[in-house]
Amino acid sequence: MAKKKAAILGSSGMIGQRFAHMLNDHPYFDVVAYCASDRSEGKKLADVWRLSDLDTIPGLSEEVIQATATSALIKEGVEVAFSGLPSDVAGPIENDLAEAGIAVFSNAASHRMEPDTPILIPEINAEHLASVEVQKRRRKKGGFIVTNANCSVTGLALGLKPLVDKFGFTEIDVATYQALSGAGYPGVSSLDITGNVLPWIKNEEEKMGLEGKKILGAWKNGRFVDSPVNIMASCARVHVRDGHLEAVFIRDRAIPDAKTIAKELRSFRAKPQKLKLPSAPEQPIIVMDEPNRPQPLLDSYAGTPDRARGMATVIGRIRVTEGCLRFYLLSHNTIRGGAGGSVLNAELAFKEGVI
Ligand SMILES: NC(=O)c1ccc[n+]([C@@H]2O[C@H](COP(=O)([O-])OP(=O)(O)OC[C@H]3O[C@@H](n4cnc5c(N)ncnc54)[C@H](OP(=O)(O)O)[C@@H]3O)[C@@H](O)[C@H]2O)c1
Repeated sequence: MAKKKAAILGSSGMIGQRFAHMLNDHPYFDVVAYCASDRSEGKKLADVWRLSDLDTIPGLSEEVIQATATSALIKEGVEVAFSGLPSDVAGPIENDLAEAGIAVFSNAASHRMEPDTPILIPEINAEHLASVEVQKRRRKKGGFIVTNANCSVTGLALGLKPLVDKFGFTEIDVATYQALSGAGYPGVSSLDITGNVLPWIKNEEEKMGLEGKKILGAWKNGRFVDSPVNIMASCARVHVRDGHLEAVFIRDRAIPDAKTIAKELRSFRAKPQKLKLPSAPEQPIIVMDEPNRPQPLLDSYAGTPDRARGMATVIGRIRVTEGCLRFYLLSHNTIRGGAGGSVLNAELAFKEGVI
């Protein structure tokens, strides 16, 4: 199948730069437009590059950023847009693109809770992609929007999926230790975060609860049906560059032992692995036995093959005591919880013939 022409929106941002890297030389998509606000128009990607773990790739670094305009993208033949726009501007821009016939894969929260828009995580709810057929009928030219989840709920939902399906857990408590890159660039003031922890991230706890129900729920008879899972979150920003660490607590009358839990997590595979999607991690949940892991500094980039670096959820310190299961979970916020999530969603849509 021919590659689809693609655009990156917000290409000067934390998520946009990840998109540029992950979509470089991609087997399904050919990026023809790197867009941002008027402030970045005319700059090269190399001028805005701030990913500490990656250099720009020769050729990619020379790409010139253009302003974001639907008409220009249509003229350039763009069929797919990857959005790393802030939520306060993403709503109307993404909607315009979808109305113009473009398939939009978005990181922004703006459209997540709409009744025909999926919060897609292909290992968890690949069947939710069917909801875009409802959108295609509603919109004039067959475009649609697929969102991915908030970065703190993405890794958590992936870790919960096999446990919820197998053991029926519903009451989940979680305390997060969230990285600075989760706040975009320039993010949190250095004076606020140096030597400090901020025990509040605006709207984050509410999003984890609401999005978790939709993600782990079903798509039945043309509508989303919420999962009974309740996620009660306490979210904190910590002085870490990349990777959200989360402490998870599950109380239930029948908790199996830690070995059984670990076996269930390790053996989990789903549709992206069966379809061998290019950015799908071969093992979506990696369980570590070392007593001091996972750590953001050492484990955020877990996932193989190379294209799936940072796409795996890492779980460790699994303990079961007095009817309570506890573990730590780590997920890369701008890869699995950001650009990589959208790229995997688009790969599923491509492979399934939705785009
Ligand atoms: N960071 C994460 O871990 C993470 C994870 C999941 C989801 N998200 C979501 O992903 C989105 C992007 O986050 P980020 O962290 O990448 O933010 P960011 O670093 O602040 O980047 C924002 C990007 O949007 C562009 N932009 C801003 N206003 C615009 C406008 N009016 N028109 C066109 N472009 C505009 C910016 O361009 P200029 O540079 O030209 O201003 C920049 O390229 C947000 O919705 C965020 O909530 C972030």
